[in-house]
Amino acid sequence: MTTPAPARRSLTAIVLAAGKGTRMRSDLPKVLHRLAGRSMLGHVLAAVQAAGAARIAVVAEPGRDDVAREIAALAPGAAIYPQVERLGTAHAVLAARAILSQGDDGEGDDGEGDDGEGDDVIVAFGDTPLITGETLSRLRAPLAEGAAVVVLAFETEAPAGYGRVLTEGARVVAIREEKDASEAERAVRLCNAGLMALSGDHALALLERIGNDNAAGEYYLPDAVALAVGDGLSVAVVPVTEAEAQGVNDRVQLGVAEAAIQARLRRSAQLGGATLVAPETVFLSHDTILGRDVLVEPNVVFDTGVRVDDGCVVHAFSHLKDVRLEAGASVGPFARLRGGAVLEAGASIGNFVELKNARLGPGAKAAHLTYLGDAEVGARANVGAGTITCNYDGVSKHRTTIGAGAFIGSNSALVAPVAIGEGAFVASGSVITDDVPDGALAVARGRQATKPGWAEWKRAALQAEKVARAGKP
Ligand code: UD1
Ligand code: MG
Repeated sequence: MTTPAPARRSLTAIVLAAGKGTRMRSDLPKVLHRLAGRSMLGHVLAAVQAAGAARIAVVAEPGRDDVAREIAALAPGAAIYPQVERLGTAHAVLAARAILSQGDDGEGDDGEGDDGEGDDVIVAFGDTPLITGETLSRLRAPLAEGAAVVVLAFETEAPAGYGRVLTEGARVVAIREEKDASEAERAVRLCNAGLMALSGDHALALLERIGNDNAAGEYYLPDAVALAVGDGLSVAVVPVTEAEAQGVNDRVQLGVAEAAIQARLRRSAQLGGATLVAPETVFLSHDTILGRDVLVEPNVVFDTGVRVDDGCVVHAFSHLKDVRLEAGASVGPFARLRGGAVLEAGASIGNFVELKNARLGPGAKAAHLTYLGDAEVGARANVGAGTITCNYDGVSKHRTTIGAGAFIGSNSALVAPVAIGEGAFVASGSVITDDVPDGALAVARGRQATKPGWAEWKRAALQAEKVARAGKP
């Protein structure tokens, strides 16, 4: 008989996200505050997904529909477990007890891994958003070598407030919370980052034995370490930088975390082939995609949903959200693009131009002071300075289409719904309310009248009137 291959364990992630985050002074739960356009909870969910979590549990305060909606949107398969009373991190993990006892047969009896072994379990914190999937994978790795508990830890010169990782020789023996630590223990600089990996074989048994006989009267997750050591189980420590492990409790720390995420995003854009002339002034979102040889001038904001293909230029002081720039397109300076704007290859928009739900065909241009909303602009069309698509009648939005090669004279208003034909010409200053056929000229403004000598005559007449008035008693 051949020995069956050992079943590869799958990964369960438990994300602790209960607590109002009072120090944020906010109506929004702490974990929904955003960094680089995504909630802190969203960042942590992305990290556990990247680490390959097959099952995700989020422990949250009961009745938070906003938190539930965020989870449904970002991790649709995740289960939410309410923690009614906030009695500590171990108590919070046990709120998700059901997922811990599910094991590999949660999806039905498929004969895989249903021999009594539990999943690998990682516990992450919803307010520790800088953690990466790669770090979570490193945290999990010692479980495969037989560790029962794995602690994520960092060395710091300023350990105050953190749980200290206590060692005897090379062995970890316990984690002591600051409140419970002796003078000597407080001098320890190896700190618990809080996140932990647990072998599914031991997780429940360890967690259920954790008590609350400590200074805070809380059930401490880190107490799993001393219990495991007492049982003769192996405990491993995995290093992390203090910066990556930092938590967010107030808006100052939120700002610090934002700066850290921006630095990461800029670096990865630069390594991907984009030039950021003044990197510290460019703000990116978690999902910003910049291609090769993209040039970004100073003071540009990439809000969410932006893709910039190779060779595009984004000039200074532009703001982009939900935008696609195709190869070689050019934007700004001082441009605002939003709501599904698309610039096809080589299209360009210049200063003080706003695009909303508008598509410019290849090589089309709108160089100055223009609003194009709900519009389609054909290839190589030229939209003159001050052109406005009047897309809103106060009730509904309407579309404007401008054909390939059309020329829209400056300061024209295109009252939608309206279509300008291919190669058509709109005279400057026109208010266009009817469709213009291909190749036609439309002029929709008062005709110019010129009266030679009128100005001199008028001035003389006005002067004479004034003298007559002054001569009266
Ligand atoms: C925790 C660790 C500490 C570590 C520090 C790192 C414990 C007891 N201590 O302390 O060793 O150095 O993190 O930052 O774990 N939570 C719940 N329900 C609860 C309690 C907490 O969901 O009942 C969640 C919080 O929302 C937060 C996380 O668990 O996301 C950590 O809780 P927190 O109170 O911040 O623990 P620390 O005191 O920072
Ligand atoms: Mg904390």
